[in-house]
Amino acid sequence: MRLTYAKRCGSAVLVLLAATALWTGCTHNKAESRPPAEMAEEPMDPADAAIDPAHWGRLYPVHYQQWKLTSEPTPAGLSKYKRGYDVGEERRDKLDEYPFLALLYSGWGFGAEYNEPRGHYHMVQDQLEVDPGRLKAGGACLTCKTPYAPKLQKEMGRAYFATPYKEVLARLPKQNQTLGVACIDCHDNRGMELRISREFTLGKALRKIGVDPAKLTREQKRTLVCAQCHVTYMIPKDKDMHSTDVVFPWAGSREGGIPIENIIKDIKSSPSHLEWTQAVTGFKLAFLRHPEYEFYSNNSPHWSAGVTCADCHMPMMTVSHESLTDHRIMSPLKGEMTQCAGCHEEKAPELRAKVIAMQDRFIGSYLKTGYAVAADAKLFEMANKAKAAGKQIDNEVYGIARENYEQAFYRLIFVGAENSTGFHNPKEGLRILDDAARHAATADMHLRQMLAKAGERVPDQVDLELPKYTGNRGTKHLPFRPEHEIKAPIVK
Ligand code: HEC
Ligand code: HEC
Ligand code: HEC
Ligand code: HEC
Repeated sequence: MRLTYAKRCGSAVLVLLAATALWTGCTHNKAESRPPAEMAEEPMDPADAAIDPAHWGRLYPVHYQQWKLTSEPTPAGLSKYKRGYDVGEERRDKLDEYPFLALLYSGWGFGAEYNEPRGHYHMVQDQLEVDPGRLKAGGACLTCKTPYAPKLQKEMGRAYFATPYKEVLARLPKQNQTLGVACIDCHDNRGMELRISREFTLGKALRKIGVDPAKLTREQKRTLVCAQCHVTYMIPKDKDMHSTDVVFPWAGSREGGIPIENIIKDIKSSPSHLEWTQAVTGFKLAFLRHPEYEFYSNNSPHWSAGVTCADCHMPMMTVSHESLTDHRIMSPLKGEMTQCAGCHEEKAPELRAKVIAMQDRFIGSYLKTGYAVAADAKLFEMANKAKAAGKQIDNEVYGIARENYEQAFYRLIFVGAENSTGFHNPKEGLRILDDAARHAATADMHLRQMLAKAGERVPDQVDLELPKYTGNRGTKHLPFRPEHEIKAPIVK
């Protein structure tokens, strides 16, 4: 099939779009806004039409097709750590890949099911399919999923965040309820400029770090359109544990420097940020999610070289002699890697091997630290039991151990929720894990001293009782899939 690319304002195509009364990119003219005959049977609110990518596809068929390709499984055998939706592969759950996470997240939705990401097309559908425990926060969960989020938030105000997920979803037109990130999320429909559609989250957060969202350069937007969703956020709770907002923990940071230290300070600054209770320790904790933007932008080599998210994930492609931006967003390892060739001399297989070698180093450290933090959690469990049985537990030492444990825990889950397996900022990933390991060791030492003083016998090797957490998870009773576990790679 030959793809044609209609970038120019072809009048035949434009008439169709003008029917939706939203297109001013080329020669918008209200007088043209009459529905053509073939569209009369599917009357659509202009606002819905602006959101529906199929309408944009009439003017930009190639972009639309590539966007739609994110629904397809990705090429197999090219990525080592992200193959959960590759052709012929089974989906992967992080809780099977990294069993210590099942222990650490036990007590809430993420401990039931925590799938690796797949293409953009599936984002809302995946929420409907995941363990319902994951959607308890309410409408807030739709914030980085549906293109209707800004509209919903405007219409519903604060109620948007806490209203039950399915109730909020039901307010959307039926045909668009499972629509994920759409053209309108990244583009102005009057002129196609890149734009930030999520003023109520990213816009506010940018102002907090001294960036005016109205004055972004094209280069900034080539990263920030992704940062609307690929960031960590908090869903602050009121005293009844109802969601009140979606906020990025960027206080005290700046563009190009949102380090984990500042993020931890921010999340620990208010009890309203604590969203769940960890079953093993009984601690109320915050959570960290996919912080691709924060991790990448913190002085990584590529960030410093001016490389944007789109440079690596949306390479240029040529269709009918026209060069355009590939909208099939996926792992660069799964493509030809032409986007790297401008700066790297290696051929794709060689460069891919370099990326994987960096990821192997990261995984080695991640696994070691993960199990150390999990062992800490079990020692707290032991201490809590001893306390309940009337043993003398030194509160001060307990407090020091807890602070170190939380510092280790947040660092660990920050790099683990980040989806590049360390690649986006290799040195920073290892630095964060080193610090996490140090805090975990300090917690371990204090816990052991404290337990010994209380007359408890602590084995050298703490029994993690992993099957208790990895098996029979959530309302779906998911079994542990040992064949998906990621073991420490041999690092040369
Ligand atoms: C509206 C929110 C949103 C925006 C904007 C967004 N993403 Fe995503 N992205 C997601 C979600 C959610 C997923 C996971 C989807 C799933 O698993 O169902 C995802 C998944 C991905 C994946 C994994 C794809 C795969 O094949 O596994 C990549 C890569 C990615 N995004 C990169 C980007 C880049 C680069 C940008 C900016 C150009 C961007 N995203 C913009 C929300 C978003
Ligand atoms: C220098 C190139 C480069 C830049 C810049 C870059 N990435 Fe990546 N990204 C990668 C590579 C390489 C991977 C690892 C993919 C793998 O392991 O298969 C990756 C992985 C990812 C993944 C997981 C992919 C998957 O298949 O699950 C997401 C999501 C992602 N990047 C988003 C972003 C976002 C958002 C930005 C900007 C803040 C960004 N990336 C900047 C190269 C880049
Ligand atoms: C996740 C964000 C994102 C989404 C969703 C998205 N785009 Fe884009 N689009 C981009 C980026 C980034 C560029 C590069 C723009 C630049 O550098 O100025 C781009 C460029 C374009 C261009 C300019 C020509 C080119 O190829 O560079 C067109 C046309 C376009 N997109 C159409 C679409 C259409 C149609 C859709 C929906 C089917 C869509 N885009 C969805 C991010 C997105
Ligand atoms: C705009 C230029 C540019 C682009 C595009 C780019 N890189 Fe890089 N890359 C750099 C720079 C600069 C460094 C840092 C070199 C250093 O610190 O010695 C680097 C470092 C690396 C390294 C570690 C150093 C090494 O060579 O072992 C890897 C691996 C890497 N890049 C992979 C990629 C991949 C994969 C892509 C495409 C998805 C990519 N890069 C795209 C400029 C770029």
